[in-house]
Amino acid sequence: MPKILVLPHPDCAPHGAELEVAPGTSICDALLDKHVEIEHACGKVGACTTCHVIVRQGGDSLAPPSDAEEDMLDRAWGVERQSRLSCQAIVAEADLVVEIPKYSLNHAKENG
Ligand code: FES
Repeated sequence: MPKILVLPHPDCAPHGAELEVAPGTSICDALLDKHVEIEHACGKVGACTTCHVIVRQGGDSLAPPSDAEEDMLDRAWGVERQSRLSCQAIVAEADLVVEIPKYSLNHAKENG
């Protein structure tokens, strides 16, 4: 089974995490299943940006983002070229290295 290496994040994974995931699972579900509590404010339907992740390695194995995902990502905090909405990015066969950005849009709003 492919693995996801989660880089350390102060709230979601202070020491990082490594998890095995069945192909066909969204990155968001894979993280939540292993208690990496990434935000998912819209219920994982691709309508917010709180589940934003940056796929540092292995992103080429994922199906490319839809136009709707791209449009949502435009509103996310700290977007990079490898950014994805983790609820819309489905794990294939390759291992991934995933970074959870320091802030989500919710945090950014709360903290200015
Ligand atoms: Fe809202 Fe992924 S949980 S876009």
